[in-house]
Amino acid sequence: MKKFYLSLLSFTAVFVFFSFNNSVQLNQNGLPIDSLEAEKENFVNIVKETIKGKEGVSSDSVFRDIQMLKGVPAENLLNIMNYGFSKALGVGCDHCHNTTDWASNEKNAKQISREMMKMSGQIRDMISNIKEIESEKATINCTTCHRGEIVPALKMKD
Ligand code: HEC
Ligand code: HEC
Repeated sequence: MKKFYLSLLSFTAVFVFFSFNNSVQLNQNGLPIDSLEAEKENFVNIVKETIKGKEGVSSDSVFRDIQMLKGVPAENLLNIMNYGFSKALGVGCDHCHNTTDWASNEKNAKQISREMMKMSGQIRDMISNIKEIESEKATINCTTCHRGEIVPALKMKD
């Protein structure tokens, strides 16, 4: 009888383990979506706490090394970080940052992102010069290419 209960117990344990495992959804970079979202939210809140009362003030006078996003209100910069950059690439803040020193440029991905902003601006200008495009709002951003992946696709998925 004892043996029966023991095997039932281990069966339940295996079942619980697998059903838990199945519920972890991964993004296109193979990172668990839920914990990534929670972690980003947490970092945004930590930074927000340090800029209390200055949310509407220009990023370059609130943060320490703003080269591209000058004039953007501090709170908007955090939205760009969370929804514009992290989500577009499917990564956490730590892909580009040392999360104990946000102004540090030690990760290449951060400097690459500045160049990507420059490149995106150039492409936007080029698009607005294509006169035959009727849309007034023809534009691009990080999501246009990255679509949730670190390396943009070169071919359609099957
Ligand atoms: C894909 C790269 C990338 C990701 C992901 C990213 N950042 Fe950034 N972050 C940057 C770049 C680039 C800058 C500098 C912008 C500039 O020079 O105008 C920056 C600047 C910042 C700054 C200002 C630091 C200072 O003092 O100068 C903060 C704070 C920040 N990011 C927070 C975050 C948070 C929080 C997340 C996650 C929700 C995040 N970032 C995700 C690229 C990234
Ligand atoms: C026109 C398409 C395009 C746009 C728009 C674009 N990227 Fe990229 N990005 C690329 C390509 C292509 C690569 C190189 C991928 C490879 O082969 O490694 C890349 C690489 C990167 C990398 C390095 C990948 C890594 O290993 O970390 C970062 C970071 C990055 N992009 C951030 C951004 C951000 C932030 C934006 C928006 C400001 C952006 N990109 C907009 C096409 C684009």
